Amino acid sequence: MTSDSPRSTNAPVGVFDSGVGGLSVLREIRKALPHDDLLYVADSGAAPYGDRPGEFIAARAEAITRFFISQGVKAMVVACNTATAMAIRSLRSQFDIAIVAIEPAVKPAAALTRSGIIGILATSQTLASKPFLRLAEKHGGGAKIHTQACPELVACVERGELDSANTCVWVEHYVMPLLTQGADTLVLGCTHYPFLAPVIRDIAGPSVTIVDPAAAVAKELHRRLTTGKLLSRNNAGGTERFWTSGSRKPVQAVITQLWGQPVKVHALPAPYSTR
Ligand code: DGL
Repeated sequence: MTSDSPRSTNAPVGVFDSGVGGLSVLREIRKALPHDDLLYVADSGAAPYGDRPGEFIAARAEAITRFFISQGVKAMVVACNTATAMAIRSLRSQFDIAIVAIEPAVKPAAALTRSGIIGILATSQTLASKPFLRLAEKHGGGAKIHTQACPELVACVERGELDSANTCVWVEHYVMPLLTQGADTLVLGCTHYPFLAPVIRDIAGPSVTIVDPAAAVAKELHRRLTTGKLLSRNNAGGTERFWTSGSRKPVQAVITQLWGQPVKVHALPAPYSTR
């Protein structure tokens, strides 16, 4: 529990994902908010979210939000497209903190495509969700949208296998059909996938545009905190603290790998944890 009130500039920002994928958002937040303290929860004990029932994902998102509130956060970022699709409405209706949420970048992709064909890579739950279908209809800008669920890619990133032979086979398996259908713009609609961007780039080639909305999410968080007069006024660099609902040691190893420096990962306390 921090002593700062949630309305204080010194209060931390909470960021969560089903696992380690949200670190691709956390690193953009760190760039946009160099002085803020950041809390990250990897809900690895409940991952992957991608094929879970909506009610399960919403319950996990609510538990993690309660944990962040117990830590006195001033804002929260849902760094998980699947959790946004399944839970954002109920989170916003229940909790009185600023919540910024990632969703597949359909609108930027529609503005960028030259072929008029966009490929969206995401989880099955995201792609089947009403919010995604509405997003595609409202912001597709007349582009033809092809979708591809990529369950194996989440598992590859969770194991820290960013460019193994197995990972490359799966990336090719998921990306090639979209390219064959004429997509010249690929949306990374799951926060795990940016860690595979180099492999996706190799397979897609230089003429394909890859869109990751993480920097836009960080920018939106910065805007919200600025408007609320909640940006940290510290001169020192902000800190990061990590929790997981899964097995602490393996998650710590993968977060250390993806974050690029040694980190300590704590066990998410009951009653917020799945265990
Ligand atoms: N990283 C998540 C997303 O952005 C979900 C991955 C999963 O747990 O299936 O959708």
